[in-house]
Amino acid sequence: MSVSSDVVVRKAVIPAAGRGTRFLPFTKATPKEMLPIIDRPTMEYIVAEAAGCGIDDVLVITSRGKVSIEDHFDQAPELEAALAEAGKTSELEMVRASSEMARVHFVRQGVALGLGHAIGQARDHVGDESFAVLLGDDVLHPDSDVLSRMISTHERTGAHVIALMEVPPDEVSLYGCVEATEIGPGLVQVHSMVEKPPPEEAPSNLAMMGRYVFGPSIFDAIDATPPGRGGEIQITDAIASFTGSGEVYGVVFSEGRYDVGSKADYLRAIVEFACEREDLGPDFEAFLVGYVRGRGLLD
Ligand code: G1P
Repeated sequence: MSVSSDVVVRKAVIPAAGRGTRFLPFTKATPKEMLPIIDRPTMEYIVAEAAGCGIDDVLVITSRGKVSIEDHFDQAPELEAALAEAGKTSELEMVRASSEMARVHFVRQGVALGLGHAIGQARDHVGDESFAVLLGDDVLHPDSDVLSRMISTHERTGAHVIALMEVPPDEVSLYGCVEATEIGPGLVQVHSMVEKPPPEEAPSNLAMMGRYVFGPSIFDAIDATPPGRGGEIQITDAIASFTGSGEVYGVVFSEGRYDVGSKADYLRAIVEFACEREDLGPDFEAFLVGYVRGRGLLD
């Protein structure tokens, strides 16, 4: 494993080329990454998470029909001027913040050949650097330290690092699953991994969540990866080619993750984030208490 003291992660890649079929009909004309959690698109939480870890360069992998993501992270001179003239200072700050949180670039995945292939589209932009990958369906709570733990593990060891969480055995087939041994608090060495196994074939119930920190060697591995599950080029298969030489670590966490690709978890994110907001929380929590009482859901 190459251990280099000058490895620094300052770039992130966010795959956002999927069709979002789980959220049709909303996603017929609007990218799923623009689904709001209250008043911010989910994509903004993802970019903010990367920026909070010192990443200032973000590449979003898009596809046809995703232009509104580009607009969201662009400057909006007319809107900003109108808000300034109207004295709407806090709205102006929010609008500016989305174009200032990082330098956000875009490249298209012309054909949908899988997550591994989508990440491979970042090669020219990332070059010979280490980088983080954040999947938009997995929103982490703003207080989460998972990505920063992953980055420091990568910068310390040079290993590819994945995020892992225990899931109920009947959910393993939704995820990439790993066989791993603990080597420190919340840190495991990964020995093997398989993409979306049937429960009886899963090596454990430790599942990969949508955060990765890679060295640039992942790109050659992606190029060498044949289509796997679903006929797609899977990032799990590309990472698996490094497990035999001990070059894959996992950071294990247990809370603060919302699968916003699932309607139930998307709603949970909205409720929890609303309750935590100073401007909304008190009134909204009072409403919730009255609501669950009125429905006879409390003893
Ligand atoms: C992807 C990965 C899978 C991972 C999951 C996390 O699957 O292929 O290994 O466990 O993200 O959300 P997807 O949910 O995009 O099908």
